[in-house]
Amino acid sequence: MKLEGERVTLGVTGGIAAYKAAELVRLMVRAGLKVRIVMTPNATRFVTPLTFQTLSLSQVRVDTFEPVAPDRVEHVALAQETDLLVVAPATANILAKMARGVADDLLSTFYLAYGGTTLVAPAMNTQMYLHPATQENLEILRKRGVVVLEPQEGELACGDYGPGRFPEPPYILERVLDLLYQKDFHGKAFLVTAGPTREYLDAVRFISNPSSGKMGFAIAREARRRGARVYLVAGPTHLEPPWGVEYIPVTSAQEMYQRVLDLYSGVDVVIKAAAVADFRPKPLAEEGAKFKKEGREGLLIELEANPDI
Ligand SMILES: Cc1cc2nc3c(=O)[nH]c(=O)nc-3n(C[C@H](O)[C@H](O)[C@H](O)COP(=O)(O)O)c2cc1C
Repeated sequence: MKLEGERVTLGVTGGIAAYKAAELVRLMVRAGLKVRIVMTPNATRFVTPLTFQTLSLSQVRVDTFEPVAPDRVEHVALAQETDLLVVAPATANILAKMARGVADDLLSTFYLAYGGTTLVAPAMNTQMYLHPATQENLEILRKRGVVVLEPQEGELACGDYGPGRFPEPPYILERVLDLLYQKDFHGKAFLVTAGPTREYLDAVRFISNPSSGKMGFAIAREARRRGARVYLVAGPTHLEPPWGVEYIPVTSAQEMYQRVLDLYSGVDVVIKAAAVADFRPKPLAEEGAKFKKEGREGLLIELEANPDI
């Protein structure tokens, strides 16, 4: 499915992760979204509006009293032109203002005038995030229907370790698209196979193929975005499983065959995008052991057929 210029307003607030919002804008524009940016005055101390203007190809809004055109009251006009509000990164400060209805800058005023689907990606120092005030504000927003992305755990810019890290922009994009896609596969279950299989000769050697898994992963992602429940049975790849799919990693063709059989009767659609090995070698060594080269002039590998999936 192609998105057709759905209108996202991105609120950027004054946190150290503001620079990562630039990457998010690039991804959203590439995904076909029409992106407009509202920065808090404090956010402009971290990244210039020019960066966001260049990436979004539209004028960045900062000041409540300086509309982009004289016939507009910006917070009201923009509210009518927005399908989804994303606040990323969301500071502790903006979360408090959104929770309590404070309207003292363009972004917080716009939030009250808008009242539509909203996603926030909090990012801050761990103590700020875990503070009861912040947690209460997040709870108020969740109860109001705001989608709150959990921050990641890890080392923060301030040197602390814990929750508070800004999620990676591709993940935020996925959650944005999830909110915008029509759910025309709602109630359907998909089973998708992907990637290569590995057929082991001994504990460390195997026969495989160069399938990347990209096709199956893309199909699984698309079906998920459109509301399906998706099982992705995949051989070894370097890909991140798409958000929201049930990921079932396997190694050999026989394993893939078994997992597919287990799931088959419970799904509506099966898409077989895996590059499954037709044959597997008869083992050259005991289970868990390596075969030795010493004393061998050559090697004959005997193959037996794998089941068709
Ligand atoms: C270097 C620096 C980094 C900051 N990083 C964060 C942050 O990641 N998250 C946060 O909530 N506040 C952070 N702050 C504090 C906010 O900038 C401050 O609370 C500000 O009032 C937020 O304004 P805004 O929400 O209107 O953008 C940081 C401050 C400084 C000086």
